[in-house]
Amino acid sequence: MFIYAANWKMNMSFDKAIGFCGENYEDFVAISGLKDKKIVLFPEFTQIKSIHDIFKDTKISIGAQDCSVNEPGAFTGQVSVESLAQIGCIYCIIGHSEVREYIRETPEELAVKILRLSDSKITPIFCVGEFLQDFLGKKYDIVIREQLEAVFELIAGYCDIDFYIAYEPVYSIGTGMMPEICHVEEVFDLILQVACKFKLDNKIKLMYGGSVDEKNVQNFKKIKNLSGFLIGSASLDFKKFKKIVEL
Ligand code: PGA
Repeated sequence: MFIYAANWKMNMSFDKAIGFCGENYEDFVAISGLKDKKIVLFPEFTQIKSIHDIFKDTKISIGAQDCSVNEPGAFTGQVSVESLAQIGCIYCIIGHSEVREYIRETPEELAVKILRLSDSKITPIFCVGEFLQDFLGKKYDIVIREQLEAVFELIAGYCDIDFYIAYEPVYSIGTGMMPEICHVEEVFDLILQVACKFKLDNKIKLMYGGSVDEKNVQNFKKIKNLSGFLIGSASLDFKKFKKIVEL
């Protein structure tokens, strides 16, 4: 199953998102029925329940863009994994570079999020990726290894659910700057190698994210061991998103 994860970020207001789903409902249903393809929408927290209800009789799945690391309690402004599960979320992105930038999560917090999601049967999509200076300074392998090892060592043996690692070079997000296919493949090999060290290689699948659009998707599809795309900007334009899924 190849996954197309539409990360809408905070781009659509509640009314706009509901309108977007309504206007494109028939086409959403049609592309979600394509063989071996899975569509997951990641709206804002406030929209999850309504969008889940709109698509409840279809194959479209809904996910969250993040979750709290905490159990329900006095945590003003946070959203619990427990609530996400109750409103129909079956995927959750964690460690996205935009979130890392604002809340500076530690590897321990990311590990706890993975374990909490696993307990609630929500599939984590754990994002990793280097900054441009790491890439140019040829330090990307050290950076990515560190991002993975620090989390893997805390979840190995405890995580019951299969999950995704999304490789997203930070400089490719929303910029149109695309890495070479061979670079993505090299990073994928590294991810698998690190996962193997922690006996997690059978639990993970690999995704790519960063400037995927309807023009470059066929090229990106050549990436070895690829199981999905995390799509930001292009998922906000239904025609582009549909083309990406259909191609
Ligand atoms: P982009 O975003 O497709 O706009 O580059 C990807 C992401 O942030 O997941």
